[in-house]
Amino acid sequence: MSKNSKITFVSKSTAETIAFGVKLGKLLTNGHVIALIGELGAGKTTMTKGIVGGLDAKDKDKVKSPTFSLVHKYDGRIPVYHIDAYRLSGSQELLEIGSDEIVFGDGVTIIEWADIVPESLPENYLKITLTHVSEDQRIIEICGYGKHYEQILQQLKN
Ligand SMILES: Nc1ncnc2c1ncn2[C@@H]1O[C@H](COP(=O)(O)OP(=O)(O)OP(=O)(O)O)[C@@H](O)[C@H]1O
Ligand SMILES: [Mg+2]
Repeated sequence: MSKNSKITFVSKSTAETIAFGVKLGKLLTNGHVIALIGELGAGKTTMTKGIVGGLDAKDKDKVKSPTFSLVHKYDGRIPVYHIDAYRLSGSQELLEIGSDEIVFGDGVTIIEWADIVPESLPENYLKITLTHVSEDQRIIEICGYGKHYEQILQQLKN
């Protein structure tokens, strides 16, 4: 990985994390995969709200941690699939429900708890790790794997 393929910043509010997600969502296109990592309440779903908004989904206000469904689809300018792997035992379980068709499909895929399902991820993707600092602060670290995602990272810096 080149040394430019990672950025870190401190988000000081829910709104700031959503705004970052919106900015990222605007840069995404078909086939992009975003892996979200962080403990309970770290802000993965909050980040997802922003990304889905940045992809112009009219139903963006419905984004929540999918408690009952494993996958939720939003109709953005391209389809957005929101997967929450929290309740899964591992990659195999996700692959069995056909995650490859989603992850390698035409939409954008956002996966919460991506660290539980490492083998379901493609070779290249954008990894966002959120760490709780205080009630309103989160450290947000973004890594781009693959040239294409490194370019997105460069655009996020500007
Ligand atoms: N800077 C911040 N960034 C993101 N969320 C924040 C921030 N400050 C406070 N919060 C709050 O923290 C909570 C994060 O919850 P969220 O559902 O996004 O977490 P999660 O990582 O998806 O958790 P879970 O693993 O339970 O799905 C929200 O209530 C949000 O308003
Ligand atoms: Mg969540």
